[in-house]
Amino acid sequence: METRLLPFSDQAIANAAGLILAGEPIAVATETVYGLAGDATNARAVANIYEAKGRPSFNPLIVHVPDLRAAERIGDFDEPALGLANTHWPGPLTLVVPLRPDSGIAAIVTAGLPTIGLRVPAHPAMQALLEATGRPLAAPSANASGAISPTRAEHVLKSLGGRIPLIIDSGATERGLESTIVAATGGSLRLLRPGPIEVDAELASGGKIEAPGQLASHYSPGKALRLNAETAAPDEYLIGFGAVAGDSSLSPTGDLIEAAARLFDLLHQADASARPRIALAPVPHRGLGIAINDRLSRAAATA
Ligand code: TXA
Ligand code: MG
Repeated sequence: METRLLPFSDQAIANAAGLILAGEPIAVATETVYGLAGDATNARAVANIYEAKGRPSFNPLIVHVPDLRAAERIGDFDEPALGLANTHWPGPLTLVVPLRPDSGIAAIVTAGLPTIGLRVPAHPAMQALLEATGRPLAAPSANASGAISPTRAEHVLKSLGGRIPLIIDSGATERGLESTIVAATGGSLRLLRPGPIEVDAELASGGKIEAPGQLASHYSPGKALRLNAETAAPDEYLIGFGAVAGDSSLSPTGDLIEAAARLFDLLHQADASARPRIALAPVPHRGLGIAINDRLSRAAATA
C-alpha cells in the first residue's frame, strides 16, 4: 500500500473522511500525539486499526468526539465526570465512564468492557475530521505496536508507512505526551494514566495511579471456554472459524480481520445463549490471529 502524506487542508480532510467512511484507518494529529483514527461504530474499521498497528493483543481504545454533548450520547457522566469535562474539554483529558447500551460503539473498541474512554480533542485537524465524518473516531497513538508515540507526521510514516493509506501532516504536536486518563465509574475519580493535565489535586482522596493495561480488567465470559475445538459437545455453544461452521462463525471464509471485528460480539452472544459452556474453533496464529488468540487464552484462563 502507498502511504500518502498530505498537509492539513480542507481537501486533505475530505480525502481522509472518505477513507474513514470506507473503513480505512488514517493518521491525524491531536494536541497530544498523532492518532490512527477509524470509525468507532464500524467493527471492521476498528479491526483494521489493530491490523495496521500489528498489535498482538486487544486494548480498549480511546474514542474521540467533537463535544460533551456527543460524549453524553455514548457514555454516562456523573457529577465528578461532568466537572472535569467542563473544565478541561476540549483538551488532553480522557474520561473513562460507563458505556451506554445504545451507544452504537462497536464492542471491539472497548475490548468488550462495560466502560469507555472518551476525549474531546482541541486540535483543529482532528476536530475537522470529526465534523467531516460525523462519526465518533477510535484512535490509539499512530505507531506500530511496541514503538513510541509519534509527535510528527514523519514519525508516523516511519512506523506505519506502507500500512495505512493517508497521513495528514500538521507538523509537531503541541503536547507530545498522551492524554491524562481519569476513570469516573462509580462515584469517585481515579487517575489511570498521568498526562499533560494535572488532575491529582482534583481527585477524590486515595486516587492512586494504576497502569491502564492492568486496570482494564478485560471482558471474560461467565462460562467455561474451551479453545481449539473442531466439534462441540451438546451443552457447548460453538463459535466457528473457517471450515468449522459452529453455531455462529467469526469468519466463514477464514478472514482474520473479519474474525477480530466479530470476536467480542460473538463472545457476548455465546455468553447469552442457553448452553452452559462455550467452545471455540482453532484460529491460526498469524497476523490478527495472534491478538485474537491472546484475548481468547486470557478469557479461557479466567472463565
Ligand atoms: O493522547 C491520547 O490519548 C492519544 C491520542 C491519539 O488521543 N491516544 C492514546 O491511545 O494514547 P492509546 O490507545 O495509545 O492509549 C489508550 C489507553 C490504553 O492504555 C487503554 O488501556 C486506556 O487508554 N483505556 C481506554 N479505554 C479504557 C477503559 N474503558 N478502561 C480503562 N482504560 C482504558
Ligand atoms: Mg499508545
